[in-house]
Amino acid sequence: MTTINKSKKKPAPKAKGGAKKKTSSKISKTKSFIDMEHKYGAHNYHPLPVVLERGKGIFVWDVEGKKYYDFLSSYSAVNQGHCHPKIVKALKTQADKLCLTSRAFYNSSLCEYEKFMHSYFGYDKVLPMNTGAEGVETAIKLARRWGNVKKGIPNDKIKIICCDGNFHGRTVTVITMSNDPSSYANYGPLTPGFIRIPYDNVSALEKALAKYGKEVCAFIAEPIQGEAGIMVPKDDYFKKCYNLCKKHNVLFIADEVQTGIARTGKMLCSEHYGIRPDIVVLGKALGGGVLPVSACLADNDIMLTIQPGEHGSTFGGFPLAAQVAMAALKVVKDERLVQKAEKMGKVFRDEVSKIKSPFIEEIRGKGLLNAIVIKPHNGKEAWDVCVEMMKNGLLAKPTHQHIIRFAPPLTITEAQIKQAVAIIKKSIATLEK
Ligand SMILES: Cc1ncc(COP(=O)(O)O)c(C=O)c1O
Repeated sequence: MTTINKSKKKPAPKAKGGAKKKTSSKISKTKSFIDMEHKYGAHNYHPLPVVLERGKGIFVWDVEGKKYYDFLSSYSAVNQGHCHPKIVKALKTQADKLCLTSRAFYNSSLCEYEKFMHSYFGYDKVLPMNTGAEGVETAIKLARRWGNVKKGIPNDKIKIICCDGNFHGRTVTVITMSNDPSSYANYGPLTPGFIRIPYDNVSALEKALAKYGKEVCAFIAEPIQGEAGIMVPKDDYFKKCYNLCKKHNVLFIADEVQTGIARTGKMLCSEHYGIRPDIVVLGKALGGGVLPVSACLADNDIMLTIQPGEHGSTFGGFPLAAQVAMAALKVVKDERLVQKAEKMGKVFRDEVSKIKSPFIEEIRGKGLLNAIVIKPHNGKEAWDVCVEMMKNGLLAKPTHQHIIRFAPPLTITEAQIKQAVAIIKKSIATLEK
C-alpha cells in the first residue's frame, strides 16, 4: 500500500462492530440468548445488549416484547422498512416457484431484472453479486481488467487510488484499502496495487494522478463515508475528482453500497455532486432488507471486458434475489422514498439542532444518513448514549468512539422523527445529570 499526502487527521480507532464497553443486561431471556451467541458464535461483533425477534416498518421488537425505533436500518439495508409486504410477497411467490439455478443455465427472472436495472439506473449492464464486499471486489476486477485491456497498463503495474477512512467491506483485497488497523491488522499478506490518499482533498488526487496516472485504472470512493462517521465531502469535491479522472483516462468507481437507493435524498448519492460514475457498486437496500443482493453497474466498454467464465458467483443473480431486488426498487419509487429521505432528513437535523447539550458537538449528514458527534461528558461517551437510547426505545450504534449514526428506514414520518428526537433528547439529558 502506497500512501500519498498522509492526512493529518487521526486514523479512526475502531471499526464497525468494534466499539467496546461493557453494559450489564438484567433481563434473563435476553441474557440467555446473548450467552448462547457468545458461547457458540465467533466474537467478531460487539452488539448492543438487545435481542430482536420481530420487525415491521420502522420498528423492531425484542424477545421481551419491547418496541424500538430502528435508527440503524441494518447499516442502511432496510431503507424500505422491515418486512415490507410487497418485498416479502415477491420473496414468497418466487420461493414457491424457483429459488436457485446457478448461472449454468438461464432463468426467467435474471433477464427481467437486468432489463429493469438498465431502465432504472441508465447503465448498459448490471453484474449481479450478493454482498457489498463482493460488489466492490467485482468493481476492482472490472477496473483492473479495463485498465489492462483498454488502457494498456501491464498487469503487474496496475493501480487503484482509494481514500483514507474508507470502508468498502471485509475481504482481503478490500481491507488492503483500509487505514483502520481493526480492519487490516494481522491479516497479511495484503493485496498489492493500491494507493491511498486523504478523502475530500482534490490536490491529493491531482498529485497522485500526476505521479502515477499512466498506471492508474480507477479511483474508488464512497460519496459520503459511512463507517468513518458520515463524512460528507465538500460539494465540489467529487465533480473535481471526476474531471481529474477523465483527464487521466481513469475510471471513477462510486461505492454506493450504503449511500445508494434513496438513503441520502437522491437515488444515488453521486447525483448530489452532478456526476455519473463509470462503475457504481450497489448492495444493502438493493435486497430490500430481505436478501443479500449487490451489483455493479457499468456501460459496455467496461462490462464487456469480462468474458464468460472469468468472474461469477453461484448465487449472484439468482431468481429469488432478482425478484426481491425488483420489488425493493419498485417500493422506492412507488413510495417516493427519495423525496421522503430528503425531507425527513432536514426535519431530523433541524430537530436535533434544537437540543442544547454539552454532549452534542456536531450534527451532519444528507437525507436520512446522519450522525451526531458526541463530546464525552461526565465520563460518558457515544456508547453510553446508545445504551440510554436503547432503554428509552430507540436503537442506534456508535461508529467509532464518538460518533452515532442515525439512519432510520426511509418510510419514517415527521411525527415519528419528532418522537425519536424526543427520545434522543431525554437520553442525553439523563446522562447529563
Ligand atoms: C460503503 C460500503 N461498501 C461496502 C460495504 C460492505 O458490504 P457488505 O457488508 O454487504 O459486504 C459496506 C458495509 O457496511 C459499506 O458501507
